[in-house]
Amino acid sequence: MWLPLVVRRHRVLAGWLAALLAIVGLHLYFNTNDVDNVPASYRFKKLKQEENLQAGEGSQVSALSSDAQDGSQETNTEKKDSSKRDPKDSPPNSWRSGERNPGRMSSKKTSSFDRKHRKLYEPPPNETPMKRLPQAIVIGTGKCGTRALLEYLAIHPYVVHASHEVHFFDRDENFSKGLDWYRAQMPASYSNQVTVEKSPAYVEHARSAPEIYKMDRSVRLVWVVKDPVVRLMSAVAIQQSGPPQHFYLERVKGSLAIKKYNNAVDRGKYIVHLRKWLKFFPLSQIHIMDGGALKREPVDGMQRVEHFLGLPPLLGPSNFYYNATKGFYCRVLFSASRPSCLGKSKGRKHPHLNDTVKALLYDFYRPYNEEFFEAIGRRFDWEPKDYT
Ligand code: A3P
Repeated sequence: MWLPLVVRRHRVLAGWLAALLAIVGLHLYFNTNDVDNVPASYRFKKLKQEENLQAGEGSQVSALSSDAQDGSQETNTEKKDSSKRDPKDSPPNSWRSGERNPGRMSSKKTSSFDRKHRKLYEPPPNETPMKRLPQAIVIGTGKCGTRALLEYLAIHPYVVHASHEVHFFDRDENFSKGLDWYRAQMPASYSNQVTVEKSPAYVEHARSAPEIYKMDRSVRLVWVVKDPVVRLMSAVAIQQSGPPQHFYLERVKGSLAIKKYNNAVDRGKYIVHLRKWLKFFPLSQIHIMDGGALKREPVDGMQRVEHFLGLPPLLGPSNFYYNATKGFYCRVLFSASRPSCLGKSKGRKHPHLNDTVKALLYDFYRPYNEEFFEAIGRRFDWEPKDYT
């Protein structure tokens, strides 16, 4: 009986109270999404842990970082690129959870991001994060989508990765610094996370396979390959001097031929590289994926890598947003309200190939491809198309 009287007397107060209740209700509603369906007790299949651990600090998941050129060189320009977002890249409003990325796991604040993220990932109790040698390495091949793969993998809260290409095994000056130096390049992680490093030149370097084996014979290797002709065009597209065909064509007795001794050409002879790795690692320890498929349809490819790395199955369609302007998918972190895309150094226009040169290139690579398919027991669709 007294309630209507009070409401009438304190109309303004009642209005504010109703608004407050509505806001709390909406907040609870929007924070209850698919993330809640992840079993908190999920523990990822533990990969072999590095025994001699060093204490360290650092953030859990690094932000979208720079791309690699064909020579596997990270560029600062790219860092700038990725921060300059095209407004057209924004997702529709309905997409936004209303939560900005407030910093990573190391943040002391308990924001709604932290609460949501904790449901996805729980560090082992009473553990201090430490730097560890990588348990998974993306070994190559440059220009096949290695950067996209790493950035997609970093969506996963159980994955941490080196912020740059470390080039430990392929560069003498780094290799001579030893494994402690290599470990120091990694971010701190918990024992139930997977530390990943990608240096695409490893796949071709003679030292990589034997030395990685010596470091950790149970390491998981991820190798992105791509139609070698498309890969070559991608590599040629970043060359600035001279006509593109000079990088891979020569005249032999008056006829056009593919250059015999050329690094850019050789990178696409995947079978040659695979043989070196199979001397040390079984095929089951090398996850080979087609970069073309990763670019066209990342969800399936990423779920397979997730499985290969023994990670809890968290990645799904909502982590990928197709950007029609760029022509590829951008990643969506669990913690972010907007997708982040790779910068302008990815998705460059490839040089036009006339039919003669295209046929020459495909004929050149076909026998290598066939041997490769036979060795890995799978085929990829690497026949001429109109995509270069
Ligand atoms: P192009 O720039 O020639 O198109 P890498 O990172 O190994 O150097 O590979 C670069 C290539 O990755 C790019 O070659 C691009 O085609 C491909 N790629 C695949 N998925 C991508 C994505 N989501 N964003 C950007 N590039 C992607």
